[in-house]
Amino acid sequence: MQKKWWHDKIAYQIYPKSFSDTDGDGIGDLRGIINKLDYLQELGVDILWLSPIFCSPLADQGYDISDYYNIDPRFGTMEDMEELIAKAREKNMYILMDLVVNHCSDEHIWFKEALKDPDGRYGKYFYIEEGKNGNPPCNWRSYFGGSAWEKISGTEKYYFHAFHKKQPDLNWENPEVRQEIYKMINWWLDKGLGGFRIDAIINIKKVLPFKDYAPDREDGMASIKTMLKEAEGIGEFLSEMKRETFEKYDAFTVGEVFDAKEEELPLFFGEDGYFSSIFEFGPALIGKSKDGWYDCKEVTVDKYKDTCFKSQKKAGKVGFWSNIIENHDEPRGVNEFLPEGDLSEAGKKLLAAVYFLQKGIPFIYQGQELGMENTVFHSIEEVDDISTKDEYQVALDAGYSEEEALRIVSKYSRDNARTPFQWSDAENAGFSSGKPWISLNPNYSSINAKEQTGREDSVFHFYRKLIALRKAEEYKEVFVYGEFVPVLPEKENFMAYLRKGQEKTILVAANFQRECVTIKLPVRCKKVLLNNDGEVKVQESAVTFGGYQVLVMEVEQTE
Ligand code: GLC
Repeated sequence: MQKKWWHDKIAYQIYPKSFSDTDGDGIGDLRGIINKLDYLQELGVDILWLSPIFCSPLADQGYDISDYYNIDPRFGTMEDMEELIAKAREKNMYILMDLVVNHCSDEHIWFKEALKDPDGRYGKYFYIEEGKNGNPPCNWRSYFGGSAWEKISGTEKYYFHAFHKKQPDLNWENPEVRQEIYKMINWWLDKGLGGFRIDAIINIKKVLPFKDYAPDREDGMASIKTMLKEAEGIGEFLSEMKRETFEKYDAFTVGEVFDAKEEELPLFFGEDGYFSSIFEFGPALIGKSKDGWYDCKEVTVDKYKDTCFKSQKKAGKVGFWSNIIENHDEPRGVNEFLPEGDLSEAGKKLLAAVYFLQKGIPFIYQGQELGMENTVFHSIEEVDDISTKDEYQVALDAGYSEEEALRIVSKYSRDNARTPFQWSDAENAGFSSGKPWISLNPNYSSINAKEQTGREDSVFHFYRKLIALRKAEEYKEVFVYGEFVPVLPEKENFMAYLRKGQEKTILVAANFQRECVTIKLPVRCKKVLLNNDGEVKVQESAVTFGGYQVLVMEVEQTE
């Protein structure tokens, strides 16, 4: 396999709106990120992915872009952005921006022009179709609820939006649109970006002409995912985009790709794949239901383990997943993957180790390194996120009471991860001197960066050690390129695997429960490299693990 500059990197996702606010408007900004580069360097991360900071009405928190060539004034200026890129480079860090090109904002000039003349040049930048007898052109349901078609007032025409109605889909079939997108990507890469995280990209290829699918809910509509399963030919767009942009800059790209078929993985992130990497969403999808959040099933440790093992097997020698336990669209990983009631620091560190040392590029979402947790919602009025509001309604429609619906959406709400970063126990958690745009998680007095950076056994320092271990000269090769081999996969509430490199073998073994357990391992320990909690009790190959203890060991090299 050809080695790439990003293979051994650690990435960190910043959600700028909630990271650090320097001008007191309650919204995080670029200067806030610049000020915190030392903190990020202390943690040890190399790649910083910024969720969108382009001009936007923020209908979907910046994933609705009205000007790709400018920074939204709420986040700062172009000078701030250039300074951030330059200061990051001085620290050997790379900046990734969020590339949102399945759709733009309805306030983008292209769309405004399209509305003026739907049959004209800019009308063809979007999907605009005649309705069918006063109804939308087809029965697809938008991801955020309701029809994916919005009527253009004063006409019988509709425009298509896979997401919110303020996010009209760009027509990738139109070569002029594609060229505009590539021009914009190159313009940013010329500024010295390391690359992009690529949003919702799997949606750019539609089955055309538009047609109805069998309804999958009582609303008579069908999920867009049903259409996507049938869509063919996305590869032509993605190869073209890569050729015209990323490839020329050796940029790192990570695609937001759900549901890729196993046989397609080499196309997506193999050696000559469309992207450098794609996110591993397997764990995030455990227990999810097509009917809505109210129907989601509990995640168990063993399901989590099986999912990771299967994904690792699928990627095999093909390519590098980008591994996550959470992001700005998911609840906090510690709430999702640790059994309810077991949110100890030991458990948080255990989860960190088991996902971080799998093969792939580890991504940390802001605050994860402190073990930040889901927040508490007292009423639906406290929710900002559009998809949470939709799921609340879906739960009510399915017969749940308001109280039950709130309990359901609280568990999965995207706002859980969007509460302000907890810098300290000072007012507003040190995030802002003004009123934060979204409520703080009340636990900031106990979970915050100031306390954790000053305490050697904190979750923060455990992440720091994990990063340092992955980067250590003698272990780099095995953590980056070593083969992934499951160990004792049938053992309940226990997750262990080997990373087998050319010269070294590592064992990661985690007792995912409160009870102690003694395990006879199929390998012999040479040296314990990392322990999250308690004493190390290793005798030959028998190890006694305390509750939620994880050990990372170098073991004897075997065949
Ligand atoms: C992606 C983003 C999400 C956004 C959606 C539409 O899934 O991660 O936050 O709402 O795309 O752009």
